Amino acid sequence: MPDYRRRVARDAMSVRLDVNGMMAEAIGQARVGGDEVDGLVARAAEAAHSLQAKRAAGELPFYDLPSQKDALAATKALAAEVRAECDTLVVLGIGGSALGTKALLGAVEPTRRVVVADNVDPWTFGKLLDGLDLTRTVFNVISKSGETAETMAQFLIVRDLLLRQLGAVDYAKHIVITTDSDAGALRQIVHDEGFRALEVPAGVGGRFSVLTTVGLFPAAFAGMRIDDLLAGAAWMDSRCHEAKLWHNPAHLLGALLYLADTRHQQNVVVMMPYSDRLLPFASWFAQLWAESLGKAETVDGAPAHVGQTPLTAVGATDQHSLLQLFAEGPVDKVVIMLRVEDHGRELPIPAAYADLDSLGYLGGAGLGQLLNREQHATELALVQQQRPVITLSLPQLNPFTLGQLFYLFEVATVFAGALYHVNPFDQPGVQASCRLTYGQMGRRGFENERAVVEAWVARKRREYIL
Ligand code: PA5
Repeated sequence: MPDYRRRVARDAMSVRLDVNGMMAEAIGQARVGGDEVDGLVARAAEAAHSLQAKRAAGELPFYDLPSQKDALAATKALAAEVRAECDTLVVLGIGGSALGTKALLGAVEPTRRVVVADNVDPWTFGKLLDGLDLTRTVFNVISKSGETAETMAQFLIVRDLLLRQLGAVDYAKHIVITTDSDAGALRQIVHDEGFRALEVPAGVGGRFSVLTTVGLFPAAFAGMRIDDLLAGAAWMDSRCHEAKLWHNPAHLLGALLYLADTRHQQNVVVMMPYSDRLLPFASWFAQLWAESLGKAETVDGAPAHVGQTPLTAVGATDQHSLLQLFAEGPVDKVVIMLRVEDHGRELPIPAAYADLDSLGYLGGAGLGQLLNREQHATELALVQQQRPVITLSLPQLNPFTLGQLFYLFEVATVFAGALYHVNPFDQPGVQASCRLTYGQMGRRGFENERAVVEAWVARKRREYIL
């Protein structure tokens, strides 16, 4: 196992950001040029300085997660305990309480089964429950607020099932709760029913919580080296202390996407990994970028209505689906490609049909080699069409490189938030929908929301419903 305390090991496993495909030399007019980046240097320095001051004052605790100690030890100890008791962990959570875990599990092969149930579709959730051996299953209920309707509904169903099937003495051993240390109904329930529990650190919101107990506990249960994950994040943190915009990967990434959106109307950002294992990571990024930056108001309350729309795609599959639009449709997108140099496995393509030009050339190459060459080819094909592309290369896909990626995008998002002058940590637009749901479901205190929904349904015109 590489020892990431050694500089040479960290350098060899560094994620590299390549922004050539954003520059004028490559794509001409549609570009975010070096001149535009240079023009942003003073504002970027101001933003970096203000974020640094907030970090130093303890106002942005997500920055310091790579160096956490106590929570890490508690998480590992509980994961080892639960691993000894069961075969399957089912995570109940949604949004930021699920997507990071899905990204972790998708990227690094688990040695123990973990399922993330992040929807309330009765068909899929019912089928999942039908197939479980409850005596060998633990449910990890994750909700920072402790009151999200979807997760609480799942919790109520599971608790009832466990009570009925395992009895009032044993059921509690099958639930681990991850929630705020003080606030919320779940914390109250932990106190009352004695469930084992982990804390989501104060001041770290869902979509920034993958490197807390939220992601670390399921990852440790799955057998992942979570120390390497945090070491990767710490390595990226050290690279992102760089004051110069051109030398700071997260700030440069955030600045380029901000400029592409605000100066060139490139208001769609596509994340396109050339690795199936990174597709859940792209979904994690989509939530992070959308929920953090899609805002109606600036931090001063001025109208904003900003944000780039994230889209996920996967290479090579979507070369035969979405690429046509990316290459020839509106010039409103930046494509971020994720490339894995060594896939950890190669499948040789057998040599055959040497007499057929359209097949014979493939023989002797590897499937991973084909995939990576397709990434190069597509990057260039987009550049030739003057479409902006950013490429991130991972030497391998492992916890250390994954930790770098998570941290890179979290810092880039917060930095872009400072440039847009919006609060990347709230989500008022999501809360509106939650309140209307509470109203319809009859939650006390939301009677007005119920009336509003009923009025909306009543005033729908029949002629518009076909
Ligand atoms: O990023 C966020 O803050 C949200 O996506 C939340 O994670 C999501 O709404 C779930 O919230 P909670 O963890 O409180 O159940």
